[in-house]
Amino acid sequence: MDDAEVLKKRGYIMGINLGEGSYAKVKSAYSDRLKCNVAVKIIDKRKAPRDFLERFLPREIEMLARVKHPCIIKTYEIFETSDGKVYIVTELGVQGDLLEFIKKRGAIPEDVARKMFYQLANAIKYCHELDIVHRDLKCENLLLDKEYNIKLTDFGFSKRVARDEDGRVVLSKTFCGSAAYAAPEVLQGIPYQPKVYDIWSLGVVLFIMVCGSMPYDDSNIKKMLKLQKEHRVHFPRSKVLSVECKDLIYRMLQPDVSRRLCIDEVLMHDSGFL
Ligand SMILES: Nc1ncnc2c1ncn2[C@@H]1O[C@H](COP(=O)(O)OP(=O)(O)O)[C@@H](O)[C@H]1O
Ligand SMILES: [Mg+2]
Repeated sequence: MDDAEVLKKRGYIMGINLGEGSYAKVKSAYSDRLKCNVAVKIIDKRKAPRDFLERFLPREIEMLARVKHPCIIKTYEIFETSDGKVYIVTELGVQGDLLEFIKKRGAIPEDVARKMFYQLANAIKYCHELDIVHRDLKCENLLLDKEYNIKLTDFGFSKRVARDEDGRVVLSKTFCGSAAYAAPEVLQGIPYQPKVYDIWSLGVVLFIMVCGSMPYDDSNIKKMLKLQKEHRVHFPRSKVLSVECKDLIYRMLQPDVSRRLCIDEVLMHDSGFL
């Protein structure tokens, strides 16, 4: 049975392609029951490698079921067919993802970016308080609803942080995310604090929002790492940005993990961007 038939049986009329990832494709659909359009992420387990099936996919499903926040995409249902396809039905990001948005419209004015980033930071605060880390924060994984509110999605690298018997967070070892958004400790393969890693990626996201370009050139990882470790953040001359905004980015792109802001500090940033 093809996807359209499977979805039809479940009460969805399949629509257009919304995106394609490594092991998933995402389609829009109309739900007869909800009387609205939804998104369906379709994963063909037969085409996916073992560690994805055994580690990442079960976590994605578990985390999606656990999270409930206005700035996180809502999951309606998840089902699997006997031939090994998983269908994750979620709220639709009507205005697409943030990367497409910035590619089309360029840098986002600071006051709009502030509102979007505040929503994103609140979604991360919610996750981190639940001891959930995302580990793949990037513009492609931030969707926009019809009023351009941020909806965080793609929990494919997320997990519950592990803690030792004294309650201390166990460091992560798996490389997650993409190089352009990866913190220097992750790029170097050093076991890392996963919540602290998320903050670095938030710094990259805010930079892209207000500059419309990437903070580092990831075509040369060695050079990129050197700049990161020297704590050098180059803001394009052509962009007029407030001191508060640049300072917040600078403190999230802090290579010293013990000095990088935590999510509460991002939200209470004393220089007052948020
Ligand atoms: N709910 C949604 N609404 C609109 N577009 C979506 C939705 N979910 C995913 N997409 C689009 O599909 C792309 C891939 O989806 P994602 O869940 O990130 O898959 P992957 O794990 O393969 O990266 C996203 O970057 C986005 O452009
Ligand atoms: Mg993705």
